[in-house]
Amino acid sequence: MSKKIVSDLGVTGKKVLMRVDFNVPMKDGKITDDNRIVAAIPTIKYVLDNGGKIIAFSHLGKVKTEDDLKTKSLKPVAERLSEILKMPVEFIPDTRGKELEDAVNALKNGEILMFENTRFEDLKDKKESKNNPELGKYWASLGDIFVNDAFGAAHRGHASNLGIASNIGKGNTAAGFLMEKEIKFIGEAVDSPVRPLIAILGGAKVSDKIGVIENLLVKADKILIGGAMMFTFLKALGKNVGSSLVEEDKLELAKSLFDKSYGKLVLPIDTVVAKKFENDSPYKTVSVDSIPSDEMGLDIGAGTIELFSKEIAKAKTVIWNGPMGVFEMPNFAKGTIGICEAIANLKGATTIIGGGDSAAAAISLGYGEKFTHISTGGGASLEYLEGRDLPGVSSISDK
Ligand code: 3PG
Repeated sequence: MSKKIVSDLGVTGKKVLMRVDFNVPMKDGKITDDNRIVAAIPTIKYVLDNGGKIIAFSHLGKVKTEDDLKTKSLKPVAERLSEILKMPVEFIPDTRGKELEDAVNALKNGEILMFENTRFEDLKDKKESKNNPELGKYWASLGDIFVNDAFGAAHRGHASNLGIASNIGKGNTAAGFLMEKEIKFIGEAVDSPVRPLIAILGGAKVSDKIGVIENLLVKADKILIGGAMMFTFLKALGKNVGSSLVEEDKLELAKSLFDKSYGKLVLPIDTVVAKKFENDSPYKTVSVDSIPSDEMGLDIGAGTIELFSKEIAKAKTVIWNGPMGVFEMPNFAKGTIGICEAIANLKGATTIIGGGDSAAAAISLGYGEKFTHISTGGGASLEYLEGRDLPGVSSISDK
């Protein structure tokens, strides 16, 4: 990789500012999925084992109201991190000020603290999200070097990534091992894939994936389309899609993407339909040419699973983003499970899930271990798949 990684910087005795993406799902103050915390452990351990002093920080959700200051604290996250590391992680309930500065200065080699949600700075003037120059400079002043391991937030140009990198001094910003892995797998898959490269795209909306489809139309050998966005394509091609979810204002765009794909875009041939968006609604599989007017498609059908599996079997590289159906409802999860199985059975191929819902689906359905790489980024991996420059990546020092 042309970017510096943490092992390229000496960390011993240094105050290491470490941006992580611990924007984890929470329910009633409890973390419901700690994958992002676990994924940052190798970088944290490396710095601690090599005698660095870590000042860790992250955003958590969006902060707009005083109430968010109560519900979006990183305290439970610092506690979980401490449990995983099996060592104390001092939590500073502030994003700036004397308590934080004293705690930073008191850190000994091999110790770690975590400060409060960087977006608490958004409450007034959106200082974090608008990359307020004074804030990035202040945070940079707390450390000697900056390690950015927050791939999930790399599409944001905020004070806690871009702002610090611009102020910490030339050559002093490095990627953590998670960031390195994400750039390597997603970057190589798109820019220099072992072919055939098969992309599988699902999810509800074409509008979320336009940039990805356009970029992959150039780079991939085939793009398999599932999820509700298939109905916008099918309707654009003149089919009756019943009461399925359709983005009416994207029909023309879907038609033009399909026309310029010259056969690269593969659409489902059948779908599982029901009258209601409910797991218990009676369902059946129909051809995409005979979707009843009063029913909606909620998954790809068995014929499509077979068709897609045959395409996947030829792949040497697979990128998957977006579930094939409403996988949260067991009756409409078979398409997503079928695709997981087809990818899991591939031998000698690089298989990547581009974060978000498809990562959650694969992990919750028990296929987490079967992929070469599951990205921790949602929006970030989508933008990376679009071929865009991510501020969090481009602001890392070159080697
Ligand atoms: C994510 O969950 O995709 C990242 O943590 C970024 O969060 P954001 O969309 O709130 O910036």
